[in-house]
Amino acid sequence: MALVPMKVLLENAEKNNIAVGAFSVGNMEMVMGALAASEELNTPIILQIAEVRLKNSPLELMGPMMISAAKNARTDIAVHLDHGLKFETVQKALDMGFTSVMFDGSLLPLEENIQAVRRVRKAADLYGATVEAELGVVGGNEGEGKAHEVLCTSPDDAKLFCDETGIDALAVAIGNAHGNYPVLPQLRFDVLDDINKMVETPLVLHGGTGITDEMFRQAIMLGIRKINIATASFDSLALRASEYCKSREKANYFELSAAEAEGVYENVRKHIRIFNMQSDI
Ligand code: 13P
Repeated sequence: MALVPMKVLLENAEKNNIAVGAFSVGNMEMVMGALAASEELNTPIILQIAEVRLKNSPLELMGPMMISAAKNARTDIAVHLDHGLKFETVQKALDMGFTSVMFDGSLLPLEENIQAVRRVRKAADLYGATVEAELGVVGGNEGEGKAHEVLCTSPDDAKLFCDETGIDALAVAIGNAHGNYPVLPQLRFDVLDDINKMVETPLVLHGGTGITDEMFRQAIMLGIRKINIATASFDSLALRASEYCKSREKANYFELSAAEAEGVYENVRKHIRIFNMQSDI
């Protein structure tokens, strides 16, 4: 199998009425855990890293590792820049061989967001890469400190935005938020339904951590084709690592590394099965 453009995985998801999981990674153990789940379930996934995470996990180190992992995987894998904030970062990821980039201009006025995404579209086309962009404001934050209020995507704006930019995937805001939800979110499936009826572009759900299986299924039935999971994998890794350390008087590095990968594997595996719309869970 291979490193593939994200668009291929979105088309496959559309054909099968499922969603492809986009799993954030921050170190080698996370990459290995996510790939182990993908290979075991014989299901393609997206490996992604967000621009705000590059302080902890530099692109120069993570990028080549993610791409090499994808090339050597037994399943199809797309490598994606999540929430690109600066054009330069998007360009760097494309130069490195990322097969997909997201530009997040969601805090910009609509017209400026359109112009910025058009520039990214042009750059990505030179590499045959996929482009995702966001409209409306997803709540919470991606680790930069300040939390954003949710602002639901307007279906009319979504149509205009997709037509004007030619993006391959649209991240929508329907009451979803990044990070752990303080209370179970009330996702606006009515808004999602309206967007789905107006827009042909595959839709993306950010803020997957803490959303129930049933809500995932409903979202997929209403056109969500990519679902982002970050916090749940970070938490699962930290939990397994801390359980391991507590179980030993003296921790062993290699066992600790395996515990980290195991934590991510468990979380990714669980989500892949939901996103594949498997009924035996
Ligand atoms: P969570 O951290 O809530 O899973 O969100 C992930 C995400 O949307 C990354 O863009």
